[in-house]
Formats: sequence, structure tokens, C-alpha cells
Amino acid sequence: MTNLAGIIISDDGRENCDQLSLSVHVVADTISKLSDLRAGLEQKYAVTSELLSGGGTQCSGYHAVVVTADLRAVENIAALKEVFGKLGHVRKRIFLVDQKERLLIVQAYALGATRVLIGPINRANLLAELSHSDAPKITPSEVECGGNEVATGGATAIAAMFSAVLSGKPIDVGSAKGAGSRIADNIAEDGLSSWLDVVRRHHEGTYQHCLLVTGIAVDFGLSLGLAKADIERLYSAAMFHDIGKAKIPLALLDKPGRLDAQERALIETHPATGYEVLKGNAGISLEILDAVRHHHEYLDGSGYPDALCASSIADIVRILTISDIFAALIEHRHYKPTMPREQAYEIIRSMQGKLEMPLVAAFRDVALNR
Ligand SMILES: [Fe+2]
Ligand SMILES: [Fe+2]
Repeated sequence: MTNLAGIIISDDGRENCDQLSLSVHVVADTISKLSDLRAGLEQKYAVTSELLSGGGTQCSGYHAVVVTADLRAVENIAALKEVFGKLGHVRKRIFLVDQKERLLIVQAYALGATRVLIGPINRANLLAELSHSDAPKITPSEVECGGNEVATGGATAIAAMFSAVLSGKPIDVGSAKGAGSRIADNIAEDGLSSWLDVVRRHHEGTYQHCLLVTGIAVDFGLSLGLAKADIERLYSAAMFHDIGKAKIPLALLDKPGRLDAQERALIETHPATGYEVLKGNAGISLEILDAVRHHHEYLDGSGYPDALCASSIADIVRILTISDIFAALIEHRHYKPTMPREQAYEIIRSMQGKLEMPLVAAFRDVALNR
């Protein structure tokens, strides 16, 4: 393989654009990382590669792009923005990040990652990730391509918000609302099911969750016949609702299984933290602030952080809470099977006293059919 002025030539000397359906393009900031990565993949995939300083990105039709580079270096970030300007449509975009450091992970997502693997290059993990969800094969439809772009834009806006919270910079409220609006258009056009499929297949963790909640809340609002202004409030509240999680350690957010009391208490700080980081921001209305702070409140007063009772919980918050719980139940996590929508709805239906039952009944169609 050679990479001359950005022209990528495969090992047999031909420009490697479309030899195999499963081709993987690897991108690295040093030659040694590039060779390590290639060596790990060449037995199974047709591999093309480029050095970040090479200055050009070719070809399309890749099964995946795998990136390993120091994301603290501004020149690498600038070069990766260029790479993903051309390869942003590739469905699987895996970043290898050497340390479990929040800002690096957020940076990877902000650049367009759909998955971030932590630690030194691990061939087995990488191969597992590349083959994950290859079967059953799903032919990307035009619907999915559109949805995928909208989801990536949404994840990027959410990653940028998290990054701003972490670094104490101003939050770009306009971009997040714009991404929410595009999600709403996508749901109105293509329906909820295709959105759930796209988001669960290509995104993970808090980003996946926020994208799911936004889509579900919008669809719920549409099914209730809410006015456009209310739909706007809903998608904005949904996009921002978990922004306080930016300050919760990743190890805790990603911890499989049960949390102990101390861990739970820490997780439960996120609605008040979200409220604190957003309050005073001119682009955030009082209704959105209220929804961010109170999306874990229950009608019977057993929720947090303020143990509100029914009459103090606004309608938009009740809609958001149901959408949030449903999203958390059906999200895709690598350590557990995805819960079927029917089962998730049964759990919501069992939360009598906590959720508004007429709303839960109206949610049935969203949960099961739409
Ligand atoms: Fe939350
Ligand atoms: Fe949430």
C-alpha cells in the first residue's frame, strides 16, 4: 500500500475502490499505528488506508472506517473533519481512543464516530465490532440514509453540548434545536420505527438515548395532535433533558447491572445539574428548564430531584417522562439484549400511580405500532 499525496493505492497496486463489499478504510496519525491496524484487519477485510497528514481521502462504498489518532492534537482534528466531510455517509465509523477520557470520547463523537473503543488496539474487539450487526443484513434504504444523516447531525449536536458543559464554554442551543427540528421532520416523514432502527444500529450510550427520546417524544406529540409550538418544545426539551449527564463519570453511566446507593445518588444529580448549566441561557425557555429538571419526577411524589406531586408536573414533562422511560428500556446496549417494544410498554403500563394513565394508554400506539 502506498499513499501518495492522498491517493490511496491497495497492495496489489490498483486503486482500491470496490473490490469487496466488506472493505474497511483505516485512518491513523502515525505510520506505526496504521500498520498495526492494517495487520489486525487484513485477514478478514479488504483494507485501504491513509495517513492523516496525507491530505486526501478517496473512494466510497466502505463497510466501515476505523480511526486511530491523538484527538488532543488540533491538526489531527482539522484533518479528521476533512476526512469525514467525505466519509460521513459510511455507516460504521469506529474510533479507537487510547484512554477512557471524557473529552476525547466526546471529541470522537463530535467528529462523526458511531462507536468509540477504548484502550490500545485490540484485534479481537475490533473484529467483533466490525462484524457486529452484519447479520442480518439490512439493505440501506433511502429512508435509512436520510435518517442516518439526521441521526449523525443530532449526535454531533449532543456531543458538542456535552463538550461545552465539560469545558465551561457556551452551549450552542441553536444547533441543538436545529438538529431536534430535523429529527421531528424525519419522524413526521418516515415514522418512528425507522428512526428507532437507525439510531439503535448506529449510535450508543447517552447520544443514542437522547436521539431515541427526541424521536419518541416527537412521535408521541404528533400522535396526540399537539400544535407545532408544543412539538418544538418537546423536541427541544428532549434534546437537552440529560445534558447534566455530561458531569457524571462515564464508568458509571456505562456500568452494566445494578448500581449501589451511592452510585444511584450520583446519577440522580443529573436533572439538577442540567438545570444549572442551562439556566440563564437566553435560548432556553422556562418550560424547557422545567422539563430538564423534572423529567424524573413521578405523580405520586416518589421521583427526583424535588419530589414533586401530580399538580406540579407540567403536561410536557409527563410526555417527556414516558418517552424517556420507554427509550431507556428499548435502547441497544452491547451487554444486554434489546428489549422488545411490547415488553417495554408493559413495564410502563405497570407504573400506575407514577405516570398519567390516560397518557400511558394514548402512548400504546406509539410504543407498539408507529
Ligand atoms: Fe434523565
Ligand atoms: Fe433520559
